[in-house]
Amino acid sequence: LLRELILFDEVDSTNAQLLSLMEEGSGHAIAILSERQSAGRGRRGRRWISPYASGISLSVGWEFNGGVQCLEGLSLAVGVAIARALNRFSVPDIRLKWPNDVWCRGRKLAGVLLELKGDLTDRCAVVIGIGLNSGLRDSCASAIDQPWADLQQVKPGIPRNQLAAALLTELLPVLDSYTELGFGAYRDAWMQLDQFAGREVTLQAGNQTWKGVAAGVSRGGALILNMDGELRHFHGGEISLRGQ
Ligand code: BTN
Repeated sequence: LLRELILFDEVDSTNAQLLSLMEEGSGHAIAILSERQSAGRGRRGRRWISPYASGISLSVGWEFNGGVQCLEGLSLAVGVAIARALNRFSVPDIRLKWPNDVWCRGRKLAGVLLELKGDLTDRCAVVIGIGLNSGLRDSCASAIDQPWADLQQVKPGIPRNQLAAALLTELLPVLDSYTELGFGAYRDAWMQLDQFAGREVTLQAGNQTWKGVAAGVSRGGALILNMDGELRHFHGGEISLRGQ
């Protein structure tokens, strides 16, 4: 399924590189790995800190025969693929935080950033960026604006090359079958790993704030909040535990 694997010592952002590399009709999977990113991108315009040899910076480009609607829930399915890759190395306490963070012991271990390219109506290309902390030095900690976990601390000794291979091994079949299966095939797995299930949470979406009890995700990957007995679906925003 993988047509090309490109390795960089340093790059601005593996997502940015792949977006510019992927051309119309270039066929599907291309992957980029970099030891370091000088301008790693996070969700919502944030930076992603990725110093030299301090984790995994991986982007996978894939072309879908179908409009952007067939990507519904994909970023959550990617979270499941990452959890499965970590499970191959028996990494303990892996959970998912909606929409697509991978947490370990209450802190963020990995993040996913999807970026789209193409006309998005009947064909679209997606770049899936995965950043995972492993071997981050404390000197970097001050630059990260949220509690973070590090794979080396949770489960030392996992070779990064093997982890990168496991990520690709889990992710590529998900992409290959996604237009056919959709998020429905991953929903149960996602719900079993849900960090916030049954917890009182606050959802910040734009300049609005919603409060409710996290009640899993829909077949389309929307967050379900139980708000005084009414189940409401949300398609965007950031959740946090109530009071934090
Ligand atoms: C998030 O904010 O949680 C998403 C972080 C995604 C970071 C990865 S690292 C590889 C790829 N290249 C980027 O510039 N960003 C993604």
